[in-house]
Amino acid sequence: MKLQTNLLAPEEASRVYGRRGGRRVLHAMLPTGAYDWLRGYRLRFNASEVGRGWHGLVARLLGLTARSGVLSGLHYTLFSREFDREHRAVLAARARHVEDVYAGRGNLYMLRRNIHRIEKGLIMKPARPIFALAMIEETVRAFGDCLLRAPAGQAQDIVSLQWADQILQAYFERVDSHPIVARARAAYDAIIARDAATVADTRARVPFKRGSPDGLPSIEAMEAMALHRRSVRWYLDRPVPRDVIDRAVDVAGYSPTACNRQPFRFEIFDTPEAVSRVGAIPKGTPGWLHQIPCFLVIIGKFEAFRFERDRHIPYIDGCLAAMSLIYALEAQGVSSCCVNFPDYADTERRMAETLGLPPWERAVMCLAIGYPDPDEPVPFSQKLPLESLRRYNHFGTPG
Ligand SMILES: Cc1cc2nc3c(=O)[nH]c(=O)nc-3n(C[C@H](O)[C@H](O)[C@H](O)COP(=O)(O)O)c2cc1C
Repeated sequence: MKLQTNLLAPEEASRVYGRRGGRRVLHAMLPTGAYDWLRGYRLRFNASEVGRGWHGLVARLLGLTARSGVLSGLHYTLFSREFDREHRAVLAARARHVEDVYAGRGNLYMLRRNIHRIEKGLIMKPARPIFALAMIEETVRAFGDCLLRAPAGQAQDIVSLQWADQILQAYFERVDSHPIVARARAAYDAIIARDAATVADTRARVPFKRGSPDGLPSIEAMEAMALHRRSVRWYLDRPVPRDVIDRAVDVAGYSPTACNRQPFRFEIFDTPEAVSRVGAIPKGTPGWLHQIPCFLVIIGKFEAFRFERDRHIPYIDGCLAAMSLIYALEAQGVSSCCVNFPDYADTERRMAETLGLPPWERAVMCLAIGYPDPDEPVPFSQKLPLESLRRYNHFGTPG
C-alpha cells in the first residue's frame, strides 16, 4: 500500500482544521491585516490591567454560578449550549433503553448487567440462600426477549445469551424457594422449552477458579512496556495486518467494564481514503494525518444505560479498553497515538453522518495506528512524579 500524501483537498483541509464560529465569520469578512490586528488587540487586552480585571470578574461570576445547580442550569440554557449534545445523546439513549425493555425487544446490555449481578451473587460469602429477588423476573424476561430477537440480531449476541442461560440455571439450582423465584423459574422453563437449541453450549460460563499466574509478564516487563510506549505520530509506509489489529482488539475486549456491559465498539479504517476521511474529523491530526496507516474510532453505546448517573461509563469503559489495546499493539511492534474527540457540534455531526451513528451512540476517542518510523523522534512528554500521582489515607474537606 502506498500512502498518498495529503489526501485532503485544500478547501476540505481548511474546512476541517480551519477557524469556527464567530472567528470564521470575522476572518471571512475582514481584510487579513484587520483580522490579525483584532487578534493581536485581543491578546494585548488579555494581558492588560483591564483585561486581567475583566477575566477576574468573569471567574468570580462563574464561581458563584457554579455554587447553585439552578444557576448552572440557567447558565447552560441561556449563555452556553455546550452540553446539548451530551444531553441529547443521554436522552435518546434512555428512550432507546426503555423502549427496548418495555416494548419486548430486550436490551442486551441490561441483560448482561443483571446477569453479572447474579453471578456476583453466586460468589458472595457467606453464600446467601436467596438473592436478586428484585430483578430476577426482569432478567428472565429480558433473556426471553433477547433470545426471540437473536436469530435476526447479531450472531455475536449468542455467547451473551449462552452465558445468561448458564447463570440463570446456576441461580435457580442455588436459591431457596420463594414465590418470586418460582414465577421466574416457570418463565425461564417456558423460554428454554421454546429456545433450548439456540443457547445449547458445551463451554462452561459460570464462576470459576483462575489458573496459576505463571508465565504472565513480570513487573519489570510491564515497566519496560510502559516506558517504551509513547505516542507515535510518524509511521512506516507499511499496512498493519488485520490479524495484528484483531488480536489487540481481542485483548482489549477482556478489559474491565461497569457490570460487564462492554458499552463500546471499535470502528477501524485501514485504507488511505478511509483514514483521511475519518481521521480528519477529530481535528487532532493536522500535519500527520496523510501518513497514518490505520485509524480507529471508539464508539460509546449509551443505550446500554437507563439513567443519567451512568453517562460517563461509555467513556470510562471505552478508554480502559483502549489502553489494553494500545499495549497489545505495542506487544506486536505496532505503535499508536490517541486522538482527542472534542465535543464540538460539527465534529459530532460529521462523525455521526460519516459512520452512520444513531443518536444514542457517540465517538469517545480515536487512535492512530501504524508501525513506528524508527528514524523519527517522539516528544519527551515529561511524566508527573509518583508523589504527585498518589496519596495514601488522606482525608480532607471539600473546597
Ligand atoms: C485523550 C487523549 C487525546 C489525545 N489527543 C491527541 C491529539 O488529538 N493529537 C495528538 O497529536 N496527540 C493526542 N494525544 C496524545 C498526547 O499528546 C500524549 O499522550 C501525551 O502528550 C503524552 O505522551 P505519550 O503518550 O508519548 O506518553 C492524546 C492523548 C490522549 C490520552
